[in-house]
Amino acid sequence: MSDIFIERIKKSANLHESKLVLALDLSYTNKKDLLKFAKNTTNTLGDYICAIKINFHLLLPLDLHSEVKTITGLAHSIGLQTIADIKLNDISNTNEVALSHLWSAGFDALTMNPFIGFDALRDAILYAHKNNNGVIALVYMSHKGASDTYGLKVIDPKSNTTVQMYELFLDWVEELNADGIVVGATLPEIIKRCSARIKGKVPIFSPGVDTQGGDAKQALANGSDYLIVGRSIVEAKDPKVQASQIRQLTWS
Ligand code: XMP
Repeated sequence: MSDIFIERIKKSANLHESKLVLALDLSYTNKKDLLKFAKNTTNTLGDYICAIKINFHLLLPLDLHSEVKTITGLAHSIGLQTIADIKLNDISNTNEVALSHLWSAGFDALTMNPFIGFDALRDAILYAHKNNNGVIALVYMSHKGASDTYGLKVIDPKSNTTVQMYELFLDWVEELNADGIVVGATLPEIIKRCSARIKGKVPIFSPGVDTQGGDAKQALANGSDYLIVGRSIVEAKDPKVQASQIRQLTWS
């Protein structure tokens, strides 16, 4: 595994001709069924996606080092990357412990919240890169009300000018060589502004398609590199048809 995360996910995308990241957000039934369902879904949809993203839906009920590890192992065996969506947000020492558990469970990258500040974000990115893995930073979340924080007006200490919080995060991400940013598909204008700054350097991952109201085509046209989609696929009557349609949008 000599490539860095950004290159690995690019290779997975080329292999499957897809820039769709599947959010494996499965409803809880019982542990055994959940694990079976997660593996079946990964297998069934593997050809349509470039990565799986695992959130608390699986991370909390399943055992990280055995059950979750079998899902990440399966994903790797069919050429997919794996992202832990835990939006980590703690002191550097604790973050490092969390990261090392995630790497040993087979994850290639995780999501982090830059509200921890520049230094703690830098420490996590350095630690991830030492392990050849990636940090995807939340620059502007997709849900209603995200503007309460990510859109706050703040004084940029470097330029002494007023900027929005997300613009400061974008500066940090660029400076620290993060491996991706999350900007909601619900915010096409923000995607455009971020893309104008970091296109080709840091990939943009956009969740919030369909169920949260984001338009996949518009997000991609405005600069999103990868779409993250959960419910509109996993809860569809025919997840393959739905995944195939979204995959086509990401690969045209
Ligand atoms: P849906 O069902 O809305 O699932 O397609 C989206 C998945 O992505 C997560 N999510 C986010 N993750 N920043 C993130 O890092 C965001 O702004 C964001 N919005 C949604 C969500 O938890 C689910 O797993």
